[in-house]
Amino acid sequence: MKKRVTKAVFPVAGMGTRFLPATKSVPKEIMTLVDRPLIQYAIDEARAAGIKEFIFVTSRGKGALEDYFDIAPTLEASLRKSGKTELLDVLKSTNMDSGAIAYIRQHKALGLGHAVWCARRLIGNEPFAVILPDDVIAAEKPCLQQMIEAHAETGGSMVAAMEVPQDKASSYGVLDVKEDMGSMVSVKGMVEKPPAGTAPSNLAVIGRYILSPKVLQNLSKIKQGAGGEIQLTDAIALEMEQGRDVFGYRFRGQRFDCGSKAGFLQATVSFGLSRPDLRDEFADFLGAIVPQQQAAQ
Ligand code: G1P
Repeated sequence: MKKRVTKAVFPVAGMGTRFLPATKSVPKEIMTLVDRPLIQYAIDEARAAGIKEFIFVTSRGKGALEDYFDIAPTLEASLRKSGKTELLDVLKSTNMDSGAIAYIRQHKALGLGHAVWCARRLIGNEPFAVILPDDVIAAEKPCLQQMIEAHAETGGSMVAAMEVPQDKASSYGVLDVKEDMGSMVSVKGMVEKPPAGTAPSNLAVIGRYILSPKVLQNLSKIKQGAGGEIQLTDAIALEMEQGRDVFGYRFRGQRFDCGSKAGFLQATVSFGLSRPDLRDEFADFLGAIVPQQQAAQ
């Protein structure tokens, strides 16, 4: 029987310079879409997919993340005393079991592959998930759950995949497709951030992975890749060279690139509009302001 995927790595060491000055004191992952931090969406998705152990790869200045996942007894007591049971439930829904989260520091910013490699001792010899919290995916069935179900059939390693415009491919890891089976593709190669005009397809890797533990060994072998960084894409590409299966999975859902300001704003609008408590007022506001803006241009 295939081993169940119960561990997930969350690379959260990045400095978030694209969001300066906010990220001077607030970790990017704590920035909120409506009222939930980015990292909460990632954790909720992992929990829904049956993940039990959460491994955060952090760096200096990320203390607020650890505090966020600690229980807040004084706040809970105060809400209980004032009868704010709904808020109490919201707060409690973010509590994690003791010992479920581990924090590892990435001492040098050597890239995504290096960040995942830093977690190798906690992962051990079993398949594991990687979630990049910058990629927020709104979906009826959470993206990682879709992938874990698909992975139970295929084994191997699997990356979330999405078609992107040809001129955007150089911002992503890109798949070289062997066979296209619809929601699943088998992959024969992967390139990280291919120079313009050289991408093997327009099927890009999105920040959800289910990886064989062998990828960790490959991460110890590979050299610096695109951007001078140790790339996770290169370690997965090596899997194929070694004869192991890698799949791309076209998930059902909408992905927001919350690592960019435009993507973050789009996610904010979309999540705001999907909230029953905000929808009407927010939609009225947008309905009024958009024509005003267009008229002014
Ligand atoms: C990372 C990965 C890349 C992937 C992307 C998805 O890049 O290295 O392969 O396509 O996430 O968001 P980054 O956006 O961190 O540069």
